[in-house]
Amino acid sequence: MARRPGRNFLFVPGPTNVPERVLRAMVVSQEDHRSPIFPELTKPLYEGLKKVFKTKDGQVFIFPSSGTGGWEAALTNTLAPGDKVLTARFGQFSHLWTDMAQRLGLDVEVQEEEWGTGAHEEKIEEALVADKEHRIKAVMVVHNETATGVTSNIGAIRKAMDAAGHPALLFVDSVSGLASIDFRFDEWKVDCAVSGSQKGLMLPAGLGFVCVSQKALGVRKNAGLNKVYFDFQDHINTNPSGYFPYTPATPLLHGLREALQCIEDEGLENIFHRHHVLAEATRRAVNAWGLKLCAKSERWHSDTVSAIMVPEGIDAAKIIRHAYDRYNLALGAGLSKVAGKVFRIGHIGDLNELMLLGAIAGAEMSMLDNGVKIQAGSGVGAAQEYLRDNPIERQAATPKAA
Ligand SMILES: Cc1ncc(COP(=O)(O)O)c(C=O)c1O
Repeated sequence: MARRPGRNFLFVPGPTNVPERVLRAMVVSQEDHRSPIFPELTKPLYEGLKKVFKTKDGQVFIFPSSGTGGWEAALTNTLAPGDKVLTARFGQFSHLWTDMAQRLGLDVEVQEEEWGTGAHEEKIEEALVADKEHRIKAVMVVHNETATGVTSNIGAIRKAMDAAGHPALLFVDSVSGLASIDFRFDEWKVDCAVSGSQKGLMLPAGLGFVCVSQKALGVRKNAGLNKVYFDFQDHINTNPSGYFPYTPATPLLHGLREALQCIEDEGLENIFHRHHVLAEATRRAVNAWGLKLCAKSERWHSDTVSAIMVPEGIDAAKIIRHAYDRYNLALGAGLSKVAGKVFRIGHIGDLNELMLLGAIAGAEMSMLDNGVKIQAGSGVGAAQEYLRDNPIERQAATPKAA
């Protein structure tokens, strides 16, 4: 394809835009990962990640994998073949994690939820209360279902588990939530939290993170599932001195150091606020178009990704393809059950108002070109109005002219 001028507008919900300073930090010569100075790079990374997970007691593991590797590490290090787990399925990623648990030989009780909703804490509580013999060893929840743009309330799920008085571990996938919407590992008593580098952490794909509670580390001796590459023990043996059990992805670790510094500089709470404002601006645009989100109600709204339903008779895949070919805009595809029915705008990571407005404008043009009956400029206008009143920075707004 001929060179395309200007920037590609990357608006899939991961991989996300990598800040220039993080890109530059990754341009490093290859190095000896057993050198005496290597730990100067690696040791602070664990402390930085613990702040992002909001944990004092949790232990973070960094795998040269992606989020999927983190899923596998969480399950195989803590569970035995035939162990029962409870999960809720309401989108492609909660489906894939459920499928992994089944393929690993676990006994999986699945709560099927309508796509566009999420994990229902009251149903989880009911299932745990009914499990008098405590056969359920873990509850698995996807915090932010990227396929449908749905966020589940992990704090409420923890309360439900406590109310049931059930000792099951709580496993949370926050691949598309961490470092962009609030996540509280200690407060919510999460036992394994899984994430990846290519979303809120603003890095390329290639690192999987698992934050593990002392309770989960304690049950490892009973975990009979096979594991080698993802064995926590190999990391426990090597990480404290700053090394890895195998060759780490060194440029990504340099990038991670810089990304953590970006997060520290902006401040986690400011980051959550910015994501909320940009998500709300997107929702205003969707509303002005007269379209609906896949998320069924406000309770489920995600601040990192909006899945937008196209009208009957329109193929969302064509809108996505045309946006890419004609306007150099990458929108997220509809996956599995919602393929052709939705396109997704990822508003996650290193992003500001004008970048978002570019994506909304491009989506609007591509929809118009594909016969969707919306008013040109309506979505952009609604988002602009909202953004003028609601700064992405938390300090007071500059008064706008009447
Ligand atoms: C919520 C969620 N979980 C898990 C994954 C899988 O992660 P990865 O593709 O990094 O293996 C993704 C990927 O998009 C995701 O969005």
